[in-house]
Amino acid sequence: MTVPDEPEYLAATRAGYDTVAADYAALLADALADNPFDRAVLALYAELVRGAASGEGAQQVVDVGCGPGRITAHLAGLGLNVFGIDLSPAMIEQARRRHPGLEFRVGQMTALDLPPGSVAGLVAWYCVIHVPPAEHPVVFSGFRRALAPGGHLLLAFHAGDERRRITAAYGHSGLAFDAYRLPPERVEQQAVRAGFLPVARFSHAPIGPEKTAQAYLILRAGEGAG
Ligand SMILES: C[S@@+](CC[C@H](N)C(=O)[O-])C[C@H]1O[C@@H](n2cnc3c(N)ncnc32)[C@H](O)[C@@H]1O
Repeated sequence: MTVPDEPEYLAATRAGYDTVAADYAALLADALADNPFDRAVLALYAELVRGAASGEGAQQVVDVGCGPGRITAHLAGLGLNVFGIDLSPAMIEQARRRHPGLEFRVGQMTALDLPPGSVAGLVAWYCVIHVPPAEHPVVFSGFRRALAPGGHLLLAFHAGDERRRITAAYGHSGLAFDAYRLPPERVEQQAVRAGFLPVARFSHAPIGPEKTAQAYLILRAGEGAG
């Protein structure tokens, strides 16, 4: 799949995830069961969103970069009204097949096709890692626009400060796309400049196959237009 005028990194990331989608989906299908940190953060986030969205206004939550929908489905199980968006058509095919009761769309985070203020929550779980850090301010402004004031953003990523070229993953070689380890303080500052208020920042030392600390940020969309 090619899209006219899109940056090379988007085409490369899409091609990479289209290649690995089926194996990624199978390998990570039960990964949450082995990760108490992920489950704890997702439970906290779901509780915050449910509490803030209990009145009038936006109720939906979007899982951006949803991949095969494992986090989308987990959040639905925690009571959120959630749908998924992903760059990779093959990932969206996996998500639809594995979670037929949920809605999944092809789309991308640097040009979110969501009405302003239309969602109560936005989850970006290990996906801003594929956008060059210089573009993060634009991405976070787009997230802020999509969220209703008071809506909650959840970011998860590998902590650090480096670009890594992915050439082999999930049983495939010959891949060629980038992933970035990111400093949590800088990511939080960029989100604050885009109109978010910090709520919580966590990190934990690597567990299982992880090679670096993992970071999680929860932020709340400030008042104002975004
Ligand atoms: C490491 S996977 C994480 C998938 C899922 N969140 C999970 O935890 O299983 C990264 C996902 O982000 C998606 N992605 C990367 N860049 C994206 C973009 N610009 N817009 C939307 N999705 C993107 C990829 O297609 C891939 O499915």
